[in-house]
Amino acid sequence: MWNSEIYNRFGKERIQPSIDLVNRIRGKRFNRILDVGCGTGMSTAPLVSEWKDAEIIGLDLSDNMLKAAKELLPSVKFIQKDCSQPLLNMGMFDLIFSNAFIQWLHNQEDFISNSFLMLNKEGIFASQIPLFEEMPAYNCILEAAKIFSDKFKNIEKDNFVLHSASEYYDIISKFTDNVEIWITDYCHQMDRHKNILEFLSGTALIPYMKRLDEDEQKLFLNNILDNLESSYRCQANGKLLFPFKRFFVVAQK
Ligand SMILES: C[S@@+](CC[C@H](N)C(=O)[O-])C[C@H]1O[C@@H](n2cnc3c(N)ncnc32)[C@H](O)[C@@H]1O
Repeated sequence: MWNSEIYNRFGKERIQPSIDLVNRIRGKRFNRILDVGCGTGMSTAPLVSEWKDAEIIGLDLSDNMLKAAKELLPSVKFIQKDCSQPLLNMGMFDLIFSNAFIQWLHNQEDFISNSFLMLNKEGIFASQIPLFEEMPAYNCILEAAKIFSDKFKNIEKDNFVLHSASEYYDIISKFTDNVEIWITDYCHQMDRHKNILEFLSGTALIPYMKRLDEDEQKLFLNNILDNLESSYRCQANGKLLFPFKRFFVVAQK
């Protein structure tokens, strides 16, 4: 279950990709903007700061996340919606933005193709997607998940779907040649391994945790923590670097 309080604990780390994505398109004129999978509004806030006069709409499925978004940005229109379904009835937009959202869809190609249908001429599709499969933390979860293989049967149907940068390029370049892609490793500084576990609890662990009872959750988390301890070494000052790989795309129709 998405939990705004746990998610926002790492606000500084989670907001930076949206700021960097907005920086890439700063100065362009947009009248209507859609933030898909807006969560607690952390991705919407940089849009509001940059395009003060635009009509901005945030969509998300989670009640809990949207409540926080409405408190953060009372002037923005936030709507509860399952964005795995076509959004064509939302009208046309100049910018369709999404940060750390698309990986939760199982029909990403349909979502991207529908987004291009909803873009005005020269409109922009801008997205950041975590490349989680390429990070040691992903293996730490997969290893621990083996203990509960019966509980995690068919987890793929609830889990995020991971594509490579090359696969995203092949999907997006069907709709435009005007594509810019880049990948950034955000080297988050963490005080202890438990902080990495907390970071993962706000997102990647959600599909797993909801299948376990309280005791099983404890065992699962302890096991992941052990794996994190052997995968991320302490720096000279005792802190940890937690590199988080993120894929960015800006594509103009
Ligand atoms: C990692 S959060 C990103 C939130 C926000 N964009 C940000 O940058 O902080 C992913 C969000 O996607 C939402 N989400 C997942 N599946 C969804 C769906 N089918 N329709 C709408 N929102 C969905 C979740 O509720 C969650 O708020």
